[in-house]
Amino acid sequence: SYLRHVDSRKLMPNGAGHIPHLKAVILGEALASEEDDLVLPSKEFSDQANVHSPEQYMEMYKRSIEDPDGFWSEIASQFYWKQKWGEKVCDENFDVRDGKIKIEWFKGGITNVCYNCLDRNIEAGLGDKVALYWEGNEPGLDGSLTYSQLLNQVCQVANYLKDIGVKKGDAVIVYLPMINELPITMLACARIGAVHSVVFAGFSAESLAQRITDCKPKAVITCNAVRRGTKPILLKDIVDAAINDSAKDPPSLDVCLVYDNPVALKREDTKWTQGRDIWWQDVIPKYPSTCPVEWVDAEDPLFLLYTSGSTGKPKGVLHTAGGYMVYTATTFKYAFDYKPSDIYWCTADCGWITGHSYVTYGPLLNGATVLVYEGAPNYPDAGRCWDIVDKYKVSIFYTAPTLVRSLMRDGEAYVTRYSRKSLRVLGSVGEPINPSAWRWFYNVVGDSRCPISDTWWQTETGGFMITPLPGAWAQKPGSATFPFFGIQPVIVDEKGVEIDGECSGYLCIKKSWPGAFRTLYGDHERYETTYFKPFAGYYFSGDGCRRDKDGYHWLTGRVDDVINVSGHRIGTAEVESALVSHPQCAEAAVVGVEHEVKGQGIYAFVTLVDSVPYSEDLRKDLILTVRKQIGAFAAPDKIHWAPGLPKTRSGKIMRRILRKIASRQLDELGDTSTLADPNVVKQLIEFSDS
Ligand code: PRX
Repeated sequence: SYLRHVDSRKLMPNGAGHIPHLKAVILGEALASEEDDLVLPSKEFSDQANVHSPEQYMEMYKRSIEDPDGFWSEIASQFYWKQKWGEKVCDENFDVRDGKIKIEWFKGGITNVCYNCLDRNIEAGLGDKVALYWEGNEPGLDGSLTYSQLLNQVCQVANYLKDIGVKKGDAVIVYLPMINELPITMLACARIGAVHSVVFAGFSAESLAQRITDCKPKAVITCNAVRRGTKPILLKDIVDAAINDSAKDPPSLDVCLVYDNPVALKREDTKWTQGRDIWWQDVIPKYPSTCPVEWVDAEDPLFLLYTSGSTGKPKGVLHTAGGYMVYTATTFKYAFDYKPSDIYWCTADCGWITGHSYVTYGPLLNGATVLVYEGAPNYPDAGRCWDIVDKYKVSIFYTAPTLVRSLMRDGEAYVTRYSRKSLRVLGSVGEPINPSAWRWFYNVVGDSRCPISDTWWQTETGGFMITPLPGAWAQKPGSATFPFFGIQPVIVDEKGVEIDGECSGYLCIKKSWPGAFRTLYGDHERYETTYFKPFAGYYFSGDGCRRDKDGYHWLTGRVDDVINVSGHRIGTAEVESALVSHPQCAEAAVVGVEHEVKGQGIYAFVTLVDSVPYSEDLRKDLILTVRKQIGAFAAPDKIHWAPGLPKTRSGKIMRRILRKIASRQLDELGDTSTLADPNVVKQLIEFSDS
């Protein structure tokens, strides 16, 4: 049983007793209960693991909570600091009632994240180790870069950026697909202290324009086109439209560096603006392959990443250099039980936080070998992932539940025809993983021998917050398990009162951690209002969470107006504002509904302007409007024609009722008597299948 790793009671009197939610980890009796589906790491795995037992975790966790300064400064000392931080490791005000929210870690410490990813590892002898493997969309197209080669290329880009006038603190927008040039560009920015803002290359021109207008970059770096699966996507055309759009809001951009990707589009077929556009391959190789580092303060910005919130305007999440570096490196090492011999593949795109923290920074800070895959995971067929795993002997495979579910639908044969013997640890991120997908991932992909790290975290948190440590304890399929070192998750009720023991409520975090975001770019007030005011004294995650009798955490999804589609965060307000921009749409209300593969689908209730008839063409046109304004991934799955929307007498749309109608839970509509016009609900139900 579980207890074979545990001499539990030894720790009880003065150990877990102080950390209530963890008590159960070491309480053998509770975990031994029959109804629990516990999946244990093998003894062989635990024996070799970085954290191999609950006791070891408990000891480290306890120290991280009781002496965070000591715990984190010891870890931080393993990195290179040009100058050590000042007296305080952490300086924070985490409570709005005490004034402005402030989070600072290692302030006064002078460092550089690119230096720590590359130069430091090369000095330690990893120069000839592969840093990046690149696998193209077409099988057979591939490449690799050692740490030394990567450094050379990063320096060339860094020198180019300096040459065109990019300075410390300037923003650079990166709109690239998953080619090595994407992490190269991120690292080049970090090297010179510039602030990259990577925009996922699935976002539309309008979304890109919005981000350009907000952060006013000195340059945009893109690629003429990319092929994912069979489809070429003309990225440069999107960038052109975005720059034109944003030019209305000066200052206009005067440099667009374009990587030439001949597999997807010929140079001569790429639209070109003389004087502004420049081919990557024409300039970058001319620059020197060494570039001095711009030393920055730990609290200087490293990057901006826009994410969706509950209003239409995306939020520029700002991460700083020192704390983010220490936190992503440490979480990567422990949550994936990283060993220098591992080959690591994360299927996320660098356009999302997962790609920042766990394609680029976390792994490279550990000197890991990282695989970057350009293509679609089911191209040319549903076996591609396992073909790649065998080809590169991938040992850590990190992906999203939506991919697991979609491959599960395609059948086991695509998996079992490959060996997958190299796999050691699996990972999941982006949304709750349903137990059946968990089991399929575990049993079929991992041959029932690879632990799964179901990592709960967010763009805002920078790195993992609640995650298994794969060798340390038994897992429960579908549970993100326990907090990472230094993280104190609390579950609160509507009034913000902490609830202990077995409970459900709003997931908050007490006290800061090094990887936390420091502000929303240009809007510190929104930062405080969104995250720190709902439950004063805590960071509010926006997620619901249940803690079971054994102390395991089960994430239950967003409790705000954010939908999670295939692990992508989309604000209902963003989709609504795209819909109502259509001249024939009078009003729109968007809710999330359960979706077999995507986790959640987008369900839009649409009221048309007077006398416009419903039609299939109009439905398609509305969907197209959303694709154009946000991106294809935000397209509604369902348009529900609505003669009217259920509103309170004060005009507030009652989404609770819309959610029930969308999921056909018609006998659970609840009290509709407070509606301004209760008839609306009846009409909506009648229109459900129209
Ligand atoms: O709802 C949670 C869900 O994704 C949200 C964060 O989205 P984003 O900032 O785009 O970052 C995604 C990658 C970290 C969270 O508020 N989420 C993320 N990971 C999990 C999850 N929900 C349940 N389990 C997870 N492992």
